[in-house]
Amino acid sequence: MRVIIEKTAEQAELRTAGIMADLVRHKPNAVLGLATGSTPVKVYRELVRQHREAELDFSQITTFNLDEYVGLGAQHPQSFRYFMQEQLFNHINIDHAATHVPDGRALDFSAHCQQYEQRILDAGGIDLQLLGIGVDGHIAFNEPGSSLGSRTRLKTLASETIRQNKKFFPGDEQVPRLALTMGVGTILETRSCLLLATGAHKASAVRSMVEGPVTAQITASALQLHREVIVIVDEEAGGWLERRDYYAEVDECHQLLETGQLRALGIGNQ
Ligand code: F6R
Repeated sequence: MRVIIEKTAEQAELRTAGIMADLVRHKPNAVLGLATGSTPVKVYRELVRQHREAELDFSQITTFNLDEYVGLGAQHPQSFRYFMQEQLFNHINIDHAATHVPDGRALDFSAHCQQYEQRILDAGGIDLQLLGIGVDGHIAFNEPGSSLGSRTRLKTLASETIRQNKKFFPGDEQVPRLALTMGVGTILETRSCLLLATGAHKASAVRSMVEGPVTAQITASALQLHREVIVIVDEEAGGWLERRDYYAEVDECHQLLETGQLRALGIGNQ
């Protein structure tokens, strides 16, 4: 797990968008896993900007979103499909048919979730999965206690998640209690993950994910088992990390390697 600590949320968002944009440029037919929530909003804004101003081309890109509320259709302003259309898909040259979000109004949830997994396989697997993290350490809607081998499925939301979501719905009874979500096992099969966390309210979850034990109580901690994970945080979200200095050194070395400044790393010095 590579941890990158940026000074501000804006720098963390731009770095995240930069990594995604690099992939889109180097692999124009890449398969991206996408997330919703407040964290990636400015990441998507930057991708839209690069599409408009720097010819970032999404015409061959395929996407799979992590999750969707059960009961909400694509036209519902709180559905994740609606969010993705508004924040990203409507503003870039992506083929609508190549964008996938679980269908919260599917008639047979179990069959739909199996199909979702199959579609990911048929697309060749996810090259890069963008993730956020919940304050309770969840990734996607894998609430504390979710199996670390879980697949895309119907999930009951934790009371804390429902409480946090109340502000988005006019009445308590309208807040969804169920979601369809990729499983932890599904996420672990992606080729790489990019997790972005910003703000002091994420500091505890980030610390548990990166430096705590691997446990189903913090499903993001399962990312420690993934071969290729980059965690990008701002100083606030990274504020509880104990090995901050080491992560900064690793990041500096990576940047020197990427820019070919091998001498500074003692490579090639006799
Ligand atoms: C969203 C998702 C969630 C969020 C997490 C953080 O598709 O799967 O796991 O990433 O709840 O949400 P925000 O970014 O709103 O703090």
